[in-house]
Amino acid sequence: MNNLMRRAQNVQLWRKYCVKQYTTEAASASLSRGKPNYDEFIGGRQVQAQRSIVVQVSSEKSYSELYNYCSRFGSIVGAHHYCVRHDDDLHYILLEYSTVNEAAAAIDSGAANGDLSGVPVRSPFLWFKAAPGRRGPKLAANTNNNNNNNSQLPLSDLLSVDGTRQLDQASLLSQLRGAASIEQQVQLLHEHTQLNDLGVRMRFLAALQVQQAISGMFPAAQAHPFGSSVNGFGRMGCDLDLILRFDGETGLRKESDGEPPSRLIYHTKENLSNGRSQTQRHMECFGDMLHLFLPGVCHVRRILQARVPIIKYHHEHLNLEVDLSMSNLSGFYMSELLYMFGEIDPRVRPLTFSIRRWAQACGLTNPSPGRWISNFSLTCLVMYFLQQLRQPLLPTIGALVKAAEAKDVRVTEDGINCTFGRDLERVGFQSRNTSSLSELLLQFFEFYSQFDFHNRAISLNEGRQLAKPDHSAMYIVNPLEQLLNVSKNVSLEECERLRIEVRNAAWILESEVENSTLPESERQDEAWGLLNLFKHPEKAVIRPNMFFKPRMVEVSDLFEEKQQQQSTTGLASDGGATASPPVAYKNVSVRQQVQSIKAATRTELKQLRESSSAAAAPSPSPSSKNRRSR
Ligand code: GTP
Ligand code: MG
Repeated sequence: MNNLMRRAQNVQLWRKYCVKQYTTEAASASLSRGKPNYDEFIGGRQVQAQRSIVVQVSSEKSYSELYNYCSRFGSIVGAHHYCVRHDDDLHYILLEYSTVNEAAAAIDSGAANGDLSGVPVRSPFLWFKAAPGRRGPKLAANTNNNNNNNSQLPLSDLLSVDGTRQLDQASLLSQLRGAASIEQQVQLLHEHTQLNDLGVRMRFLAALQVQQAISGMFPAAQAHPFGSSVNGFGRMGCDLDLILRFDGETGLRKESDGEPPSRLIYHTKENLSNGRSQTQRHMECFGDMLHLFLPGVCHVRRILQARVPIIKYHHEHLNLEVDLSMSNLSGFYMSELLYMFGEIDPRVRPLTFSIRRWAQACGLTNPSPGRWISNFSLTCLVMYFLQQLRQPLLPTIGALVKAAEAKDVRVTEDGINCTFGRDLERVGFQSRNTSSLSELLLQFFEFYSQFDFHNRAISLNEGRQLAKPDHSAMYIVNPLEQLLNVSKNVSLEECERLRIEVRNAAWILESEVENSTLPESERQDEAWGLLNLFKHPEKAVIRPNMFFKPRMVEVSDLFEEKQQQQSTTGLASDGGATASPPVAYKNVSVRQQVQSIKAATRTELKQLRESSSAAAAPSPSPSSKNRRSR
């Protein structure tokens, strides 16, 4: 409980703190409107990373000593502790200085030491060597006057302790059980599982480390995080997608103010091979460099034959999986689109989190790539659903493109046009949709229960369905490369499973919405609402043809309590009572199952009426449902 309270206080602190950061940085006028746009968000976080260092310590108790030692380099404005759990717990403290130069001074003070083997490398990852026999002085207020205007926080405590620990499953379930409504469950799930501030900081430090490692030779190189780490759809522990560019081509790098372009141009080494094999060759070389020299980088794998070649590695000081690419900037801009969608309406992210969680729980998604739907494609399904509502919650990408100005033009090296309006005020989209999150969730499942995946493709650009251009099982037009299908990998069987699972989910949720008036005491003990969507599939699934199969609930279950009553009152089971009392269900779970059956039967009958020719969808075999490890 103390932990939770501490966490909540930290969140409060963070909110205040982040507001200060963004305003003091004053990166652009639009910050004063409240929400940073994607470039400002990325730029702000990159600068924040440059002001930060990560120091390995023996435990969080080393903080005061570290604080006093590191204050000599500048003013420390924030500190976070986290653990990486191996056989032993490894402890780290992320310190943030008020300026980039102060952090650089701390890093430059680093020394090589015989206690550590390997070549010393200048990087933001350091180790705080114990001073034998000497205890650090007590934590003092920061008196450093290194001409900074930012030293608002004479820190008396760490802003987070064990700050990357995820809420364990039991506590999460208990939180969700204790919610007041399905609406609140969706919000809580989002709140407790989204990537937190420290997680974002750590990911930007991983990017900075790569960038700094090569900056001597490649001064224009930039390593940009993209994907769920930055688009607002990431959960705690999500991987880091990183793109390394040598040309500052992302549009994020600003020209120096008013200075004319230099007339002195760097010589280059002529490239003889074609673009793709050259990228592969470069990546091989970088893979070796990361593997051999970069502190924390381990388990380097090169996947160079993929459509987008990547280097995968694990960062042991950050406990992070990284996918590093050097081509395909469109993925980076796609993250910007998703970021904007998440910013447009506060319901978008919580809703998507619940849907992603549901898909994970019923085995539709899987962290490894394969014939199943990816989180990214699933997110596209959610975005499209929100666009096509009678009262849309999101604009089409076409509308964003129309709102583009000259400064929004982005064309990648391979000619992919990623131009769209980045200024949401200029886009001017206002939704009149007032649906609650639980209504939207149900509508999502109902919408895709009916969707004709067989013949129709989904276009987020136009916000409507199109005739399917080929025989892929699922077709989602790639928003930035409209000749490609984002979900090309999805097999017919997986698409069919999705259709069945969305139908099951609709049935379950429909009855959960009906049940949402259950007394609070019953809710605490039972899985209800969203939790029934996340149950193990074999328990949760209601198959389309179940009406003709043995029932899920034994009728005797319904009356067990009544019979017990009768036997305790001495009545014979066929006591011949004429007035039958209202059915007393054995427990909430039985009542929910009965209501699920009713809802399923209603839908089944409706469908039978609507299309007598429609064949019942085949039910998945239990073996196919459970065949993947999660
Ligand atoms: P998780 O890693 O599962 O948390 O989600 P993610 O959104 O990070 O997905 P993933 O790591 O698979 O992809 C990273 C990012 O690359 C996505 O967020 C998209 O921005 C982008 N991306 C992935 N697939 C495609 C694609 O087919 N086309 C385009 N244009 N971008 C893509
Ligand atoms: Mg990712």
